[in-house]
Amino acid sequence: MTVERIVSANQPENEQEEKIELTLRPADFDNYIGQERMKKALQLAIAAAKKRGEPIDHVLLYGPPGLGKTTMASVIANEMGAQIRVTSGPAIERAGDLASLLTNLQDGDILFIDEIHRLHRSIEEVLYAAMEDFKLDIMLGKGPSARSLRLDLPKFTIIGATTRTGALAAPLRDRFGLQQRLEFYTTLEVAQIIARAANILGVPIDKGAAEHLAARARLTPRIANRLLKRVRDYADVNGDGIVDTKTAEKAMIMMEVDELGLDPADRRMLETIIEHHRGGPVGVETIAALTGDERSTIEDFFEPYLMQIGLLERTPRGRKITDKAYTHLGKKSHKPPDQTKLV
Ligand code: ADE
Repeated sequence: MTVERIVSANQPENEQEEKIELTLRPADFDNYIGQERMKKALQLAIAAAKKRGEPIDHVLLYGPPGLGKTTMASVIANEMGAQIRVTSGPAIERAGDLASLLTNLQDGDILFIDEIHRLHRSIEEVLYAAMEDFKLDIMLGKGPSARSLRLDLPKFTIIGATTRTGALAAPLRDRFGLQQRLEFYTTLEVAQIIARAANILGVPIDKGAAEHLAARARLTPRIANRLLKRVRDYADVNGDGIVDTKTAEKAMIMMEVDELGLDPADRRMLETIIEHHRGGPVGVETIAALTGDERSTIEDFFEPYLMQIGLLERTPRGRKITDKAYTHLGKKSHKPPDQTKLV
């Protein structure tokens, strides 16, 4: 069973939400808040490529969902003045699908492949050969009469996005000249993103409210924008549509999102590890069973943030609850007294 969670960073689930996300997407580096290190590296690569009159090198963007991989790909295309085509690993089912995508590109085009780690291995092989020398080998026929045909491809750029680079075959990973990790945003950056989104959507919001939401958005723009939309609804229904600090506070209480951005499902998961597993270590499979989520959902969506803010630790024997989590949940630690820090 999947329950829609307001604090989940998964992709928009309906057309309306997708449309809003598109409206809010910054078009260029100047409007893109945060990820300063990545912006610098990409700006340099883009300037160099433009100077040489070549397409930019293949780019691999990785990191937790909701941090702006797709947005960054469209910014790169825009800054290069290139056309972007968008597809995803699971959408490319056969080598023929990839061949059709690649042969329809023009010089300088960008092909964005989301969830590139979900490409079939056999297709990965075709792709990395094409990325290397812009040639495509196609097998015609089967058995003894099979022949291979080599096609010239335009000089394109692949931008691949993945939540984990570990899941990519090394030869494919190595074909990306630029590999950039998206980091969690600072709370200040998230507050700026909320203020910008509110401005675009015409939501009157004060600084205190933007900061209140930013602290609860799990350092993730997609969640920040989701919280903003929900608070706007709350303000429209229960007040005069103005999102002030009091309104933001009340809305977050109603949605049961706490001051670290945890929802009841997060808290239940942490409490269960404490109560039934003495705070861990427990395997990720156990956690998945506790929450009813897929293992990959835990690993890609929920754990990275809980680790980033220091509530969960990864050890060789599994995941462990930290002292900070005990304090946050108001629970006593299971550790022997001599190891217990006074808080
Ligand atoms: N909206 C979502 N992510 C953003 C970002 N990084 N900068 C500006 N607006 C955004």
